[in-house]
Amino acid sequence: MSTRPDPSTTDATRRPVSVTGVARMKERGERIVMVTAYDFPSARVAERAGVDVVLVGDSGAMTVLGYDSTVPVTVDEMLVLVRAVRRGLQTPLLVGDLPFGSYELSDEQAVATALRFVKEGGCEAVKLEGGGPTSAARARAIVAAGIPVMGHVGLTPQTANALGGYRAQGRTVDAALRVAREAAALQEAGCFSLVFEAVPTAVAGEIMARTTVPVIGIGAGEVTDGQVLVFHDLLGIRDGQGARFVKRYADLQDAMVAGVQAYAEDVRSGDYPQAEHSYAIDGQVLAEFRNALS
Ligand code: KIV
Repeated sequence: MSTRPDPSTTDATRRPVSVTGVARMKERGERIVMVTAYDFPSARVAERAGVDVVLVGDSGAMTVLGYDSTVPVTVDEMLVLVRAVRRGLQTPLLVGDLPFGSYELSDEQAVATALRFVKEGGCEAVKLEGGGPTSAARARAIVAAGIPVMGHVGLTPQTANALGGYRAQGRTVDAALRVAREAAALQEAGCFSLVFEAVPTAVAGEIMARTTVPVIGIGAGEVTDGQVLVFHDLLGIRDGQGARFVKRYADLQDAMVAGVQAYAEDVRSGDYPQAEHSYAIDGQVLAEFRNALS
């Protein structure tokens, strides 16, 4: 099996997307399309589909590693996923998600982790969650080290326990002000872009009016500059429907189960493999082989 990307499946006319390219898209009013990916095949799908930004999200802890939340995933586990995605991508901007516990302790820890994502993972930017004083300081330190940072406010799954669970944020005046403050702090810290997750559309709209960097929404309505969805949610490679904001564009898990079931039936009934799936050998060679065996 070859893992070399087939050139005919890549649009050679597309230029790689940069952080400044994302800013220009906002200026021109072009919607920014972001999707998560966690391995080589999902990266190839994102490349061929022509998305602008690929995030190796720590959601991979749940979608591909089977953890109950994003909390346990480690930097080393994330880097395995990031490197696989890097090998499959040419054009979209590649952003790596710093996992919980890998940036909070100090600016030095944050910069060291971000450097690993760039040097070992080939990321062009990193993302971190939260816009409180700690996250804003870490974002500033990473930006100062020369690495572009995407911020993330609203529902931040790494600290969902502190937010009262996986629920929309910004639904009271205080909570909405907090999202606004955090977005402003991250922008001021130098983030090139922000994610707003699970925030009422009207609140997102008010904050957008005060935000100059591109904002990617997930559950923040149509007011943001772009949208992101988790690969496995949008393609239905999961059990259950997921969050309210998920729109499912395919039911691939059902298609995958049906495919493996059909294969299992063929193996059990003897319908697979057929001659066209098998290798032949020259009759003379076979005769000599039999002789040699006996
Ligand atoms: O980890 C992730 O996939 C994310 C996106 C939902 C923004 O953070």
